[in-house]
Amino acid sequence: CGIVGYIGSKQASDVIIDGLEKLEYRGYDSAGVAVVNGDDKISWAKKQGRLSGLEAILAKKPVEGTVGIGHTRWATHGAPSDLNSHPHLNAAETIAVVHNGIIENYMELREMLIAEGYVFKSETDTEVAVHLIDKFYEGDLLTAVYRAVEQFRGAYALGVVSANHPGELVAVRKESPLIVGVGEGEYFIASDVPAILKYTRNVYYLENDEVVYVKDGKLTILDGEQKVIDKELKVVEWDIEAASKGGFDHFMMKEIYDQPQAIHDTLMRRLDEDGMIHLDDIKLTKEDLDGITKMYIVACGTAYHAGLVGKYAIEKLAKVPVEVDIASEFRYSDPFIDEHTMLIVVSQSGETADTLAAMKLAKAKGARVLAITNVVGSSVAREAHDVFYTWAGPEIAVASTKAYTAQMIAFYMIALDFAYKKGTITLEAYHETIKKIEALAPLVQEILADKDEIEKIAMDMKDAQNAFYLGRGVDYTTAREAALKLKEISYIYTEAFAAGELKHGPIALIDQGTPVLCIVTQEALEEKMISNIKEVKARGAFVIAITRKGNTEVAKVADDVIYIPGADDLLMPVLSVIPTQLISYYVSIARGNDVDKPRNLAKSVTVE
Ligand code: G6P
Repeated sequence: CGIVGYIGSKQASDVIIDGLEKLEYRGYDSAGVAVVNGDDKISWAKKQGRLSGLEAILAKKPVEGTVGIGHTRWATHGAPSDLNSHPHLNAAETIAVVHNGIIENYMELREMLIAEGYVFKSETDTEVAVHLIDKFYEGDLLTAVYRAVEQFRGAYALGVVSANHPGELVAVRKESPLIVGVGEGEYFIASDVPAILKYTRNVYYLENDEVVYVKDGKLTILDGEQKVIDKELKVVEWDIEAASKGGFDHFMMKEIYDQPQAIHDTLMRRLDEDGMIHLDDIKLTKEDLDGITKMYIVACGTAYHAGLVGKYAIEKLAKVPVEVDIASEFRYSDPFIDEHTMLIVVSQSGETADTLAAMKLAKAKGARVLAITNVVGSSVAREAHDVFYTWAGPEIAVASTKAYTAQMIAFYMIALDFAYKKGTITLEAYHETIKKIEALAPLVQEILADKDEIEKIAMDMKDAQNAFYLGRGVDYTTAREAALKLKEISYIYTEAFAAGELKHGPIALIDQGTPVLCIVTQEALEEKMISNIKEVKARGAFVIAITRKGNTEVAKVADDVIYIPGADDLLMPVLSVIPTQLISYYVSIARGNDVDKPRNLAKSVTVE
C-alpha cells in the first residue's frame, strides 16, 4: 500500500493525489483521501479501483483543506471495495486513518471494540486503528495515537488527522516504511520517496516506533516513549522514476531485492507468540486433512515451478501423495478427482485463465480447493475454499521473482501446518523447521551482496545462442525455473534437464562452449552431479556451477562457481534460485533487452 499526508498551505488533496499517482506501483486496488478544513467533520472520498476513479469523484466534489492524508491500497485483509478502501473514519467522522502493513491481532481488538459498541463498516485490520484512537481520545490526539498503537501487534505505518485538531498531523512507523518530507512551511509524510519528490528532496527516514507530530507548523519526531529525538535530514538524489524502483534501474532488480522482506513477511506475520503457524484463511481441520488421500498442485509458468517444490515439501512433511500439473494440461486430462482430493492452485495474479478453469473443474468434481495467490480478492482467491496470501507486495516486472520465493515459503508453511495437524511431524521438528525458514531471509541477503561477482560470471555467457540448466531432485526444479527466467528475458534458447537424463538424448546438444549451468545443492546427489558435470565438460561445455559454500569438489570440475550459503536440502531452492535470477537479469541487460517488459509476454494471461 502507499500512504501520503500533507500539512501546509496548499490544497492537501492536490498534493496527495500527485503523491498517490507516484505510488500506484505499491498498490492499485483502491484509493482515498481525507482532508481537514476547520469543519466539525472530515471531508473524504474513496473509491475501489485505480486512482483515476477517485480523481473523477474529486473533480465533481472536491475536498478542500490544507491538511490531509491519502492512500492507495494493495489489499491484505478484505477484498478491494469502496468500504475497505482507506482512509477509515470513526463514527463521528472526526478522526481519519490511513495504514500500510498488517495489524496481526486485529481480530481480538475488533471483538473488544464491538463489545464496547463500536460499529465496523469494513473488513480491514485498519479500521480497528481508528476506533481505538477514538476510544482513547480525551482531547489530545497525539496521546490517543500512542495509546492505540500500544495495543497493536504487527506492522504498520499510520497517518492520522482529526477535525478537532485542524493544525495537526500524526504518523507512526513500525516495520512498514515511512518518511517525512520537509518543505517551506509544509510537511509531507509518505511510504516512499517518489510520492513527495515533486515538492521536496529533504527527508527524514523514520525508524521503528518513531512518531511524527506536526502541530501549528512545527515538526517534532518522537520515540516510542514520547521523547523528542534529533534526526538527520537527508537529501534525496534520485529522480522520480528511479525512486519508484527503489533506486534500482528496473523493477525486476527491485523485486529481486524485495525478496528477504517478502520471505520475512509471508512467514513471520503468521507466527503467534508460541511460534505456531496461523493460516488465517485456511479452515482445514485435522478431520478434513485425514480425509484427503491425494493432492494436485496446478499452476502456470513460474507458479508451476513453485508447485514442484511444494510437492517435495508436502510429501516429505505431511505424507500425502501429490501430483503437479500445468493448468492447461490438467484441465483436459480427465484428472481423477473425488471428495478425497485436494487441489492447490498457485497464481501470483490470481487471474490466470487456465488456472481458474482448472480449479472450477476440480471444484465441480468435489475437490477441496486451496489457493496460493498474491492478490487479495482476485478471481482465484474468490473461487477457492481456502486461501493463502503471499505477502510479496505488487510484482510489476513480467518475470516473476519475489512472488516465486514467497510461493515456496507458502508451501513450506502449508506442509508444516498439515504435518502438524496430521501428526506426521514432532513439535520439536516443526519448530526447528520454522527457525530454518526464518533464517532464509538473511541468507538471501548474503547472496545479493555477491551480485557483482555473479554479474561477472553472467558476462561469460551473454553471447550464447543456447544454454542449459542441469539439476537433480529439487535442484532440477530450480533448474526449470532458472531456464524459464533466462529464456523469457534474455531470449537465449534455454532448457533445463534432469542431470541423470542427459545421457539419454540431450547431451547431443552440447557443443564447444555451450553454457551449462549446474545446480549442485543436494548433499546426497552431489557426487552424481559432479559426474554429470564431467560428462558435459568432456563434450566442450562451459560449466557454471551454483553450489554451497565449502564445497571444494565442484570447483575442480566447473569453469565458474557461484557459492551460496547452505540450508536444509528441502529449503535450498529459495537460495539457489537467487543467483539464477541475477544471471538472467544481467544477461538480459547486456543484450540490450527490456528486462521489465520482455517481448511477447504479459504479466497476467487471462486468455486460455
Ligand atoms: C504469465 C507470466 C508468468 C507467470 C504466469 C502465471 O505467463 O508471464 O511470469 O508465471 O503467467 O501467472 P500467475 O499470475 O498465475 O502466477
